[in-house]
Amino acid sequence: MKLLVVGSGGREHAVCQQFLKSSKVEKVYCAPGNGGISQIAKNVDIAVSDFDRLVAFVKSNKIDFTFVGPEVPLSLGIVDYFQKQGLKIFGPSKDAARLESSKIYSKEFMQKYDIPTAQYNSFSNVNDALKFLENCKEDKRIVIKADGLAAGKGVYICNGRKDAQDVVNQMMNDKVLGDAGTNIIVEEYINGPELSYLVFTDGVSYSMMPASRDHKRVDDNDQGPNTGGMGAYAPSPLATVEINNKVEDIVCKVVNGIKSEKLDYKGILYVGIIMNGFLPYVLEFNCRFGDPETQAVLPLLDTDLTDICVSVLDQKLSSIKINWKKEFSVCVALVSGGYPRSFKKGFEIKGLENIDDKDAMVFHAGTNIENGKFVTAGGRVLGITSTSKDMKNAIDKVYLNVRKVYFENMHYRHDIGKSCFE
Ligand code: GLY
Repeated sequence: MKLLVVGSGGREHAVCQQFLKSSKVEKVYCAPGNGGISQIAKNVDIAVSDFDRLVAFVKSNKIDFTFVGPEVPLSLGIVDYFQKQGLKIFGPSKDAARLESSKIYSKEFMQKYDIPTAQYNSFSNVNDALKFLENCKEDKRIVIKADGLAAGKGVYICNGRKDAQDVVNQMMNDKVLGDAGTNIIVEEYINGPELSYLVFTDGVSYSMMPASRDHKRVDDNDQGPNTGGMGAYAPSPLATVEINNKVEDIVCKVVNGIKSEKLDYKGILYVGIIMNGFLPYVLEFNCRFGDPETQAVLPLLDTDLTDICVSVLDQKLSSIKINWKKEFSVCVALVSGGYPRSFKKGFEIKGLENIDDKDAMVFHAGTNIENGKFVTAGGRVLGITSTSKDMKNAIDKVYLNVRKVYFENMHYRHDIGKSCFE
C-alpha cells in the first residue's frame, strides 16, 4: 500500500512510524511533514488545506488511502472533498467534525443524547453574555469557551465575574480569536483530574484505546499558561475498570448519536473527560488523534494500524480484534523557551544520536533540516517516548533520554507521569 498522512506534527510522526511497521505498507508520504518525518517517510510540500493539490497528488501517486491528522482540514471538509472524487480518506466528514469545530454544536449534541457535561449557556450577542454574567457570583470560577477552533487557545478558566466579563469582551468585541470567538459558551467550572480517551470508530461500532493523561500547562506542577500539551502517559491508573465502563457508556451514546444524526464518521473520536467526583463528565470532543496523547498511546498498539484503518473505512471495525501491549508509555515534550508565547527558532538540536535505547522513540513536532542538521522550527520541538512494563521505569527511562538532547532555550516539564503516584 501507498499511504498519505496529512499534517506536520509529533502526532503525524507517530502515525507515519506506526504505518511503516506494517508489512503491507510500501511507502508513506506526509504533507507537509517535518524534518524528523522526512527521515522515515517522503515529505510532500503541500499545505493541509490545499485540497486540490492533495487530490492531484493522491491520484497521480495511486495512494490507497489518506489519513488526516489535524482538525483544521477536517473542519474545512477534506473528507467530503476526497470522497466526491472517489478517494478513500480516514476521518470524519465536515458535518461530523462539528463535534470539535463548534463547541455549541457539541454541547447541544451532548444534551440531546444525555451525555454528562458541565452546565452551560451559549451566546451570540456580547450584551446578552455580559448581562448573564452580572447574575453570576463575583468570586466564582467560570469557564468561557470560544465556539470555533482556536488552536488550543479557546478555553479560559476565569477567576470570578470581572475576569469573565473581560474575557467575553476580548473574544466578542476585540476579536482576539478572530471568528472563533463570535459565539461563546459560559460554562460551570468543574475541578477534577482529566483523562483522554481516544476511540476508533466507523460510525457504527467503536474500539477504545488505553486512557491517557495530557499535561497542558507549560511548567511543573501545572503552573503557567496552557500549551498544546507538554507530555502524556498511558494507560492512566486513574482509569479503573469502573471508570472505563462509565466512559464506555458515554462513548456508546456518542456513537449512537452519530448514527441517529446520520453523520459520516470514520476516524478517531477523542473524548476529553473530567472527573466530577466519581462521575466522568465530557469536557470536549475532538475529531482526531490527540497530540501528544498519540505519541504515548500508539507505541502500545500491538495490531497493524493499517488493518484497523482499512476496517474502519470498510465499516467493518467490529470484525477486527485490536490488541494493546501490557506496558506503560510516557512522552515528554521538549519545547522552545518562551512557548506558548513568543520564542526563537533555528537552534541546532544536538545529542539525538545518543538515544540508543530500543524502547525509546523520538517524535519530531517542530523541526527542519538545515545543512544536514536538525534545527528547531516550532514551539513544540520534539516528543520523546519511552515504554516499560513498569510506569516508574518508563518515567526514569524517558528522562534519561530527555537529558541526552540539547538545544538553546530548551524547556520541558520534569513531572510527566508524577500524577500516577499521587
Ligand atoms: N492534547 C489535546 C489535543 O490534542 O487537543
